[in-house]
Amino acid sequence: MALAQAYALHFPDTPLRADVAQEQVWQKLEALAHHLSANPPARGLLQRLFAKPPAKIRGLYIHGDVGRGKTMLMDLFFDEVINWPKRRMHFHAFMQQVHGLRNAIKAHDVIARIADQLAHQAKLWCLDEMQIVDIADAMIVGRLYEALQSRGVILVTTSNLPPERLYHNGLNRGLFLPFIEKLQQTLDVVALDSRQDYRLGRVKAHDTFIHPLGPQATRQFEDLWNGLTDHDAGQPLDLAILGRTLTVPRAAHGCARFTFHQLCVNPLGPADYLALAHNFKTIFISGIPVLKVSQRNEAKRFILMIDNFYDARTRIVATAQTAAEGLAPKSQHGFEFKRTISRLKEMQSASWWGKTLAET
Ligand SMILES: Nc1ncnc2c1ncn2[C@@H]1O[C@H](COP(=O)(O)OP(=O)(O)OP(=O)(O)O)[C@@H](O)[C@H]1O
Ligand SMILES: [Mg+2]
Repeated sequence: MALAQAYALHFPDTPLRADVAQEQVWQKLEALAHHLSANPPARGLLQRLFAKPPAKIRGLYIHGDVGRGKTMLMDLFFDEVINWPKRRMHFHAFMQQVHGLRNAIKAHDVIARIADQLAHQAKLWCLDEMQIVDIADAMIVGRLYEALQSRGVILVTTSNLPPERLYHNGLNRGLFLPFIEKLQQTLDVVALDSRQDYRLGRVKAHDTFIHPLGPQATRQFEDLWNGLTDHDAGQPLDLAILGRTLTVPRAAHGCARFTFHQLCVNPLGPADYLALAHNFKTIFISGIPVLKVSQRNEAKRFILMIDNFYDARTRIVATAQTAAEGLAPKSQHGFEFKRTISRLKEMQSASWWGKTLAET
């Protein structure tokens, strides 16, 4: 089925914008859907014994920046596959299930038993948003993937990162490398290089620094979160930073959400801001107050944070008591704060948000 046709069945009310990069990835997904649907897995023991060995089917690893349509394409693919026991899950939920099984199963070959159960549930697993930040996940996925493969399970997955950047800088990363190699050997790794983030059409850059505080600001903040995450409430995420953990209270689709208090009153440092900038495209910060003279440390952290986000071209959505100019009226960091104000202004421009003028 053509992409436009599959899309129209799924989203009858919103038009699909033509996108060459999506078409290319769709062709691969479509071919896989055909192949799977025409070659259902052998079911009973006899069938398995006498079936000719199945041709090696390669799953797909689709990576690309946020909002490019990875999930959309995977979901359309998922709907197209027939005759294959299939499941579609968020990667995080999948790993929670895996850890749950690991705690419940008392056997020495626990990975094999988990794989038995998962293969029994489905022979095609579509896992959205593969992301490995947790050492507990990192140390189990390699063996699990191998065990699933030997049971004929096909994986189709999306991620913001190519395989080689998964678990980047993670603890004991050496033990994780075989998994990366396995993914590269067994899956078709494809980059979805669409030129635009389709969610950005919902954002007006000049409305991203919202003030004054109040119900109206909160609503606007919430609307932007929903627009940029497709109404995903997000999940807590632990980032390992220099042997510590920084907990992101809510993370979804390249967006992370904090209060000003969590980012600038709590004693965070440069490594924290840098890690946030590297892991997220957009940071949501609620409740930035007018800083009092006594809040020297908060002001320092705020300056440092904006500098880090600016250097990494991170986007910010914020609610604040006043416009950027009014945030530190009596600051001792006058000169530095001027730079912060100017950067905050630039961060509210359409070009900062990667939009062409035609889109604003
Ligand atoms: N070609 C298109 N035309 C119109 N809307 C599109 C198109 N491609 C994607 N979208 C819409 O853009 C939004 C983002 O797409 P999707 O969720 O698939 O992105 P993603 O690549 O999975 O992003 P993330 O990495 O954040 O999960 C969705 O609401 C989707 O329906
Ligand atoms: Mg997605």
